[in-house]
Amino acid sequence: MKTEERRVIRLSEYAPYPFRVDSLALAFDLDPAKTRVQATLRLTRTGTAADLELDGEDMTLVSVALDGETLPADRYTAGDGKLVVRGVPDAFTLDVVTEFAPAENTKLEGLYVSDGMFCTQCEAQGFRRITYFPDRPDVMTRYTVTLRADKAAYPVLLSNGNRIEQGDLDGGRHFAVWEDPFNKPSYLFALVAGDLERVQDGFRTRSGRDIELNIWVEHGNGPRCTFAMESLKKAMKWDEDVYGLEYDLDLFNVVAVSAFNMGAMENKSLNIFNAKAILADPDTATDAEYEYVESVVAHEYFHNWTGNRITCRDWFQLSLKEGLTVFRDQQFSADMRSAPVERINQVRSLRGRQFPEDGGPLAHPVRPDSYIEINNFYTATVYDKGAEVIRMMHRLLGAEAYRKGIDLYVERHDGTAATCDDFAAAMADAGGRDLSQFKLWYSQAGTPQLRVTETYEDGVYALTIRQHTDPTPGQPDKRPLHIPLEVGFLDRTGQPLPVRLEGEDTAADSRVLELREAEQTFRFTGLAEKPVPSLNRGFTAPVRLVETPHTDADRALLMAHDPDTFARWEAGQQYAVDLLLKMVAARAAGSNEGPDTAAFVEALGSSAADESLDAAFRAQVLTLPSDDFLAEQMAVIDIDGIHAAREALRRDIARAHGALFRRLRDTHRAAAGPFAPTAEGAGHRALANAALSYLGLDAANAKLALEQYRAADNMTDAMAALRVLNDLDVPERAEALDHFHDRFKGDPLVLDKWFSLQAMSQRPDTLARLKDLMGHPAFSMRNPNRVRALIGVFANANPVRFHAEDGAGYAFLVDRVLELNSLNPQIGARLLQPMGRWRRMEAARKALMTRELDRVLATPDLAPDVYEIASKARA
Ligand code: ARG
Ligand code: ZN
Repeated sequence: MKTEERRVIRLSEYAPYPFRVDSLALAFDLDPAKTRVQATLRLTRTGTAADLELDGEDMTLVSVALDGETLPADRYTAGDGKLVVRGVPDAFTLDVVTEFAPAENTKLEGLYVSDGMFCTQCEAQGFRRITYFPDRPDVMTRYTVTLRADKAAYPVLLSNGNRIEQGDLDGGRHFAVWEDPFNKPSYLFALVAGDLERVQDGFRTRSGRDIELNIWVEHGNGPRCTFAMESLKKAMKWDEDVYGLEYDLDLFNVVAVSAFNMGAMENKSLNIFNAKAILADPDTATDAEYEYVESVVAHEYFHNWTGNRITCRDWFQLSLKEGLTVFRDQQFSADMRSAPVERINQVRSLRGRQFPEDGGPLAHPVRPDSYIEINNFYTATVYDKGAEVIRMMHRLLGAEAYRKGIDLYVERHDGTAATCDDFAAAMADAGGRDLSQFKLWYSQAGTPQLRVTETYEDGVYALTIRQHTDPTPGQPDKRPLHIPLEVGFLDRTGQPLPVRLEGEDTAADSRVLELREAEQTFRFTGLAEKPVPSLNRGFTAPVRLVETPHTDADRALLMAHDPDTFARWEAGQQYAVDLLLKMVAARAAGSNEGPDTAAFVEALGSSAADESLDAAFRAQVLTLPSDDFLAEQMAVIDIDGIHAAREALRRDIARAHGALFRRLRDTHRAAAGPFAPTAEGAGHRALANAALSYLGLDAANAKLALEQYRAADNMTDAMAALRVLNDLDVPERAEALDHFHDRFKGDPLVLDKWFSLQAMSQRPDTLARLKDLMGHPAFSMRNPNRVRALIGVFANANPVRFHAEDGAGYAFLVDRVLELNSLNPQIGARLLQPMGRWRRMEAARKALMTRELDRVLATPDLAPDVYEIASKARA
């Protein structure tokens, strides 16, 4: 396909579909080699189009009948992703029969086979690989689904809604009929057929209805579903309590599958999950994975209202459901666990993934205005920045008005396909606020940069804040955004000072400033001394504070005394960023004289030792900003310099606090007690293991790590020990890794951790080892979890080896992307993203990276997914 032939889809070209689909009946004869689908659509014309156009791909069209009469071939054309039936009446029934081979579907979109079971993934445009249909989210209808399959191989037959009939058929086959009483778009259709174990439970809703809950897994995995089931029930309760939203059917099914492109999918009443997001037990899941399961289960459940009952008009509105649902799952996690620690983790991931996206060639607005392949827009920007946008509205309106806004949004749009503007309008109306400038957050890409300066004269303290957003692709000029920024003041001893704006009577400990202009000055009175400002408390806005009036002493003061827990952590991070960048610069200049790190190291130790603080929080304090976040602050990224500086600072910290770390490791390991997947236990383990990671910088502590690995009664402690050994050149490393392999070789999901450890290793032989591991019997390019564990981790979490000077890391990645181009282009396109960083590298790496991108672009038959990322990354 030539470049100019690739279709760019634009928001500005949105037009409603000219027909209404009154109902859809689907009948499947399931067979891995040849599945036959009969679709019966009842249609009514609502627009002016003479012809009916349906989407469809990669299928054999067997027949088309209109009102019961098989159509002659000259009445329709099929090809180029469309079926066009010419000259249709105003209201009619269309029967379409298609065939395809699910076993050969390696893209994992539409209907495919995963470990011997049939399953579907239709978001965003997989339904068109099952039958011809207007595969767009604003076409909603009622589905009745008949499934027929071999009874012995596929005893369980599931689809959306309620099962209304089932029975046996000739030839060892059986059937089930499912009816979904709710209108839905095609992307929420799902079916599952397989031999599965059921874990059953129930939930009584606040209005007293009893809901049957099932989690379906591969036989033997039942015991690993307990935590997911508990999470589901908590999520159902929480959504009633906090959002007033109750489940609307009598049955809720969740199925875990091993081959899945994403985390999970919210199909109406039949959520399908990557097994990784369901299965958890102490032997196989870390605390972080337990937390992941809890949040993904909640996220998909929350979609039942924010996504399913109210869906998206078109895919440009993806953040309408995803940003909102991520914000909801973040609120849920904050309520289940430590709110500040949750916020810290969100901000880490925003900075590690979204900020780089927003500052690179793939930058796009939360509501994109064009795409070639929509699957490329399931991004950190749409999800996580989208959640920040909702969070800012929550902040600007306050919790109560926000909830009124949600109620109004549901009242206005339930049962329909809505837009981001509809959501903002409900919030503006409920809150009595003008959000017109605020809505720029939806349409303008890029991370705003704030520069803050201060003056203090005659008892008046003034903060001048300038905002600026760099150009992004297609958006050379940026306008000032409406930014909520929470600030507080401290005195020199760390006591809070009142925040009182000039001309106002009320003083508060903290207040949200609203920035609207390129430059604004806020004047505060009633201050007997110049305060130390605490800025962007709780990370009220997803911005970068590139200039603040803080001195090192201010940062140490905020680290120790800011009443906002998040801001205490943030002060430590900013302090560390400053020092690390100075260390990188010194190293680049060939100087041995780096900055003095002693005061920082001291402050870090005091926080870590402060028993009045939450253990989970102290573990966060001990974790320095990531290589990626540091890279974001440099005009030209010095990969090796960043890594060396970070390691050097870690060594300084380890040297200064050896005794403290030994104590923390022992006492918090003891405090964690026997394993239970609670937030509290996880906090103790996190702190003990943060301490271990510092101790482990000294090879003499390899034994300690090996002992911990051996004694661990849970995966968190085992992995922490392995991570320490992984970078050391000691015999204990191979001993532990081999032991892990032997213990888990039958469980590919656990073996992924073993693959990832090796992909992350700093050792010089890492790439050679990866190439060997691709031949491991458990490895397969057809399973996205394996690909992410080995190749994704290498490209995203091992900067030093991935960016090796000879370019071998880039060539390896691109070889894999080209393999995936035909196998699973969605995964291939994702893997390619780190290559977009070439612009910020020095000349030699720039040349190597662009050569590899050019190699992708010169490849014939590039899938649109891969083409879009490669061409934008190269531009
Ligand atoms: N809606 C799903 C979720 O956020 C994600 C599914 C995306 N799948 C895809 N192929 N793009 O929970
Ligand atoms: Zn989602």
